[in-house]
Amino acid sequence: MSVHNEDSRKVTTHRLMEMKQRGEKIAMLTAYDYSMAKLIDQAGMDVILVGDSASNVMAGNVTTLPITLDQMIYHGKSVTKATKRALVVVDMPFGSYQGNSMEAISSAIRIMKETHADALKLEGGSEIIESVQRILSAGIPIMGHLGLTPQSINKFGTYTVRAREESEAKKLIEDARLLQEAGCFGIVLEKIPAMLAQLITEELKIPIIGIGAGPHVDGQVLVMHDMLGITQDFSPRFLRRYANLQDTIVKAVNLYVKDVKSRDFPNEKEQY
Ligand code: KIV
Repeated sequence: MSVHNEDSRKVTTHRLMEMKQRGEKIAMLTAYDYSMAKLIDQAGMDVILVGDSASNVMAGNVTTLPITLDQMIYHGKSVTKATKRALVVVDMPFGSYQGNSMEAISSAIRIMKETHADALKLEGGSEIIESVQRILSAGIPIMGHLGLTPQSINKFGTYTVRAREESEAKKLIEDARLLQEAGCFGIVLEKIPAMLAQLITEELKIPIIGIGAGPHVDGQVLVMHDMLGITQDFSPRFLRRYANLQDTIVKAVNLYVKDVKSRDFPNEKEQY
């Protein structure tokens, strides 16, 4: 089955800006491999994020911190090979851009050269602005990521909602302005109060994509394994499950096991 988007033109950062201007919501979802990226692109997704959540859902790590630059490049390459229409954004992994803007630019160039992605995503505001500026100066589009930034989980100590307090909300607004001024083409806001996300979305000209940031943003992003119900042990309030693939897959595989054991598979038509 193929459910193409009515507009089959390649999505660009410029087109995302136009979508914001005309009030058209932006749909974004993660993907990490060729086969799923192909289906997601066919289904009409605007932006595919090769998220460092691959560390959790593909590699089974507890946090996003262990995933390496080489592993992100492997996932990025697999996704871009499958994608015709969606804009492909690759997450820069923890340790590849913080602290040293020269290291940041060489990591960024490696990802762009080796994956053929359209853009990169970095977590943080003023702390990483030098790296953001250097990468942007090389002509590489950047999407920011503020609020709950999983690469800083050891500093936060919890995955709870961010920026409920005034001082943190103020810093988040300043960081969002800083990222826009630097030239970022969009920002992901993760797990922050809906009213704060609305305020930033209304003030900024660039598209704001939310995850757990309420409905008044320019678009939404979810982790593919969560929204398809492949993962079942993660149930934050913001998550809507659109399928229960865990059940479907376990049932199908169990049926196959039974058919092999009972000699039902393969039958006369399933052999040469
Ligand atoms: O890595 C990821 O999947 C993300 C989304 C949660 C926005 O950064």
